[in-house]
Amino acid sequence: MAVNLLLGLQWGDEGKGKIVDVLTSKYDIIARFQGGPNAGHTLEFDGIKHVLHTIPSGIFHKNAINVVGNGVVIDPVIFKKELDNLDKYNIDYQSKLLISRKAHIILPTHRILDAASETAKGKAKIGSTLKGIGPTYMDKTGRNGLRIGDLELDNWKEKYRNLANKHESMIAFYNVDIQYDLPELEKEFFEAIKVLKSLTFIDSEEYLQQAQNDGKSILAEGAQGSLLDIDFGTYPFVTSSNTTAAGACTGLGVAPNKIKEVFGIFKAYTTRVGSGPFPTELFDETGERMAKIGNEFGATTGRPRRCGWLDLVVLKYAVQINGVTQLMMMKGDVLSGFDKLKVCTKYNYKGKEIDYLPFSIEEENVTPIYDEVEGWEEDLTKMTSEDQFPENLKKYIKYIEDFIGVPIKVVSVGPDRKQTILR
Ligand code: IMP
Repeated sequence: MAVNLLLGLQWGDEGKGKIVDVLTSKYDIIARFQGGPNAGHTLEFDGIKHVLHTIPSGIFHKNAINVVGNGVVIDPVIFKKELDNLDKYNIDYQSKLLISRKAHIILPTHRILDAASETAKGKAKIGSTLKGIGPTYMDKTGRNGLRIGDLELDNWKEKYRNLANKHESMIAFYNVDIQYDLPELEKEFFEAIKVLKSLTFIDSEEYLQQAQNDGKSILAEGAQGSLLDIDFGTYPFVTSSNTTAAGACTGLGVAPNKIKEVFGIFKAYTTRVGSGPFPTELFDETGERMAKIGNEFGATTGRPRRCGWLDLVVLKYAVQINGVTQLMMMKGDVLSGFDKLKVCTKYNYKGKEIDYLPFSIEEENVTPIYDEVEGWEEDLTKMTSEDQFPENLKKYIKYIEDFIGVPIKVVSVGPDRKQTILR
């Protein structure tokens, strides 16, 4: 049985949580393969809004097994809070949440290091979510990390202490004014570890191999977006993992030839949270209107998201890198009421017209070149099928499909599960 992937094609926040939730009933297993609590996947159903950070979005469905893969970094404290929230809704996670022994643990000192590193960068800061993501992946690639499987060893606290001591010297080295109470943070951390240890730890690559042999269907749920990929994103304003399709292979132990459909999610416009280049960003009232109607505030940090027109150069790049086979367009409803819509089809890069993403898309190098299409007035949020779509929305969809060369199979017209139109 094949593995399907679901990935964000812009700078994150495309609405992956909602789509995984919609798709979950079709899969036996939902697996997260990278990132950590920097992600915030929002799901809305029965009038209640849930935000998940590390736990896969299949947790609200009765039968799906949810795997946190080896490529994920886990903060026990945040994980415990997520579990507490599931308890409130009587979600039985014990039987359907499995954690890879090879996943790395975010220590309290990783979070402090993140803050120290950002403070030391001053104006050049990444705009990190400050969840300790970068420092934890640094320890992973530096071969110093503490993994979930270590918690099953008698000497894990010793390993913890050695790592935390190293971090304390690094924090001192940054020489920035950051106040923290480590004993207090550790108390909370050790409590949370106890809860984490009550869950099932697995050799997830073996589990997923076996599941494939048994004919189980697997959906790998990406976090963040392709332009935040450590290799292919707008470096250094990126996260510290591979958010693109290849990350699912290394983050779960799935072989490339086992991947079948790659679902690529994008917003009908573009947003970005944190620092870094964003060629189609709007600084005027159009951008403000998108932010307001689209309720564009980070699910993890609450920060306002930067908004702008749809960038097809970015979208095409992400589709190529990921091998996207089906597109899903989110938040179509937010664009209702705009007289004209702009789409970026090329860049003016250092005085030359180009149609690909160059090494640097900083403002001083790149100016977007737009095409303009007609907007629509109609409210889409109550629509239940494509036949009800205004003609100009149909044209907008066709324009994107023709440009990218991949069909748009889903159009989302609101945050609820039900506001999802399949084509
Ligand atoms: P970090 O991953 O927390 O270190 O943040 C690095 C960059 O990625 C910052 O610009 C964040 O705002 C951005 N980022 C991280 N996770 C997400 C996400 O889930 N959605 C959108 N942006 C994110």
